[in-house]
Amino acid sequence: MSDLITIALAKGRILKDTLPLLNQAGIEPYDDLEKSRKLIFKTNHENINLVLIRSADVPTYVQYGAADIGVAGKDVLLEHGGEGLYEWVDLKIAPCKLMTAGFADKPLPSGRLKVATKYTEITRQYFLQQGRQVELIKLYGSMELAPIVGLADMIVDLVDTGNTLKANGLVPKEFIMDISSRLIINRASLKMKNQAIKQVVEKIEQAVEAA
Ligand code: PRP
Repeated sequence: MSDLITIALAKGRILKDTLPLLNQAGIEPYDDLEKSRKLIFKTNHENINLVLIRSADVPTYVQYGAADIGVAGKDVLLEHGGEGLYEWVDLKIAPCKLMTAGFADKPLPSGRLKVATKYTEITRQYFLQQGRQVELIKLYGSMELAPIVGLADMIVDLVDTGNTLKANGLVPKEFIMDISSRLIINRASLKMKNQAIKQVVEKIEQAVEAA
């Protein structure tokens, strides 16, 4: 019998793009992951289970081997640091951009800028490379609110359609990087469950190529 493989999937925007890819790879959960409140799902493959978690937690589950494989945004991978896992392939799904954003016409203060973000590692690196001194304010979501209430001068966040910024009177400013989702693999699993992992990964790689 083949080793049990657990794949960690990220809730939300990434899931929407992951499900068709899994389907194309012939991996089909029995439940509707977008509707169910369950966290663990069996699939049509007896040895493949899916777990559904917050996107920022996917690298952690894979790092510690609680999941063998995961689908995670490049943004959360950079924040996590990548310890204990391989970034295997760019799935080219859930594409978006990491940008700074703020008010279109409000001049920025002359002193040290206050930047609100949940991407503190990437943001620190970005401003460091530019030799700009900023004060980072760590938030966990709804960053768009920060400039409006005067908590920050700008934010760093993912921009897809730009609708969220627009709805809050903000505009995208500086491009930081392109983001897409990556297939990640636990380092020990790749050694210990090599055959089973390879089988799953090959199916997904073929689905990416066919997309
Ligand atoms: C992201 C991001 C913005 C929004 C941008 O949040 O934080 O709020 O999407 O998308 P748009 O440009 O198409 O409006 P996401 O939906 O990933 O969920 P989160 O709030 O949990 O980060």
